[in-house]
Amino acid sequence: MSWRRQSILSANQFSLGDLNEILSLSVKLENDLKRSRNLKLLDDYVLATMFFEPSTRTRLSFEAAMHRLGGRVISTVGVQFSSLAKGETLFDTLKMLESYSDICAIRHSVEGASSLAARSIKIPVINAGDGAGEHPTQGLLDLYTIHRRGYLEKPHLTVAFVGDIKYGRTIHSLVQLLSHFKVNLVFISPKELALPEKYRELLNSAGVNYSETEDIAALREAHVGYITRIQEERFIDHREYEKFKDAYVVDTDLVGQCRKDLIVMHPLPRLSEVSTDLDSHPSAVYFEQANNGLYVRMALILGLLDISYP
Ligand code: NCD
Repeated sequence: MSWRRQSILSANQFSLGDLNEILSLSVKLENDLKRSRNLKLLDDYVLATMFFEPSTRTRLSFEAAMHRLGGRVISTVGVQFSSLAKGETLFDTLKMLESYSDICAIRHSVEGASSLAARSIKIPVINAGDGAGEHPTQGLLDLYTIHRRGYLEKPHLTVAFVGDIKYGRTIHSLVQLLSHFKVNLVFISPKELALPEKYRELLNSAGVNYSETEDIAALREAHVGYITRIQEERFIDHREYEKFKDAYVVDTDLVGQCRKDLIVMHPLPRLSEVSTDLDSHPSAVYFEQANNGLYVRMALILGLLDISYP
């Protein structure tokens, strides 16, 4: 089954063929956007963005993507401004979305919230982050960034994930996407924040080479360093968060000890884990990565609405 006209709930739903199609459609849209600010393909369509957890880039890039395609956007931001604050159930809140909009993107703190939504309504649902679960569209824009840099073709591509691998939903999605390619993965985290068993099993059955360590020195062997924030909002015991929050800092000194062709990625927002002194360094691609969200989300919206392009 193709990825078109479906909901996007998990990165595991994509085949290699789907990924190649999404990557090339995104490249095409990136190029065409240089010539036109509005591709005028979705005049009669409405996207609903329902974000019940904080977001900047994800929501704005979804909304910008819809506008650049010529569609319209309706949105609710934050539980406190929706009827959930009055005690309405998520199901009731979501139920009317299918008459108000043609497609929706949902972020919620509960794992599986977007799957619940997809079962409840008839329009395509996009998981824009479900708790510590997944964030498949971020994974796709991360993959796109690696592809745009020509790194997917690198022999023995090594991708190192640094930080909160247990709760980092963007990592959970990207790892599954990368399992379709010839890669070595290195997971660098405190033991308590290591890769959940579920993804370990997935990598084992896909035959992906991976290793785990607490030592940031392992970044030296990587072509891609994917750094993440320790996910404060997922810790039940705040003292645990305090213990780990400054576990790793990637700065120009450390990058200086790494491969010359290392690229440093981060889904953003960053705290102290990527030093601002790296921002003007040629290795830093995290702002480019955030920009790429626009093209990939345009491609996904077109695909889910089954609009052929060109
Ligand atoms: C991430 C998220 O929300 O999971 N941010 C994003 O969507 N760009 C990462 C994070 O919050 O640390």
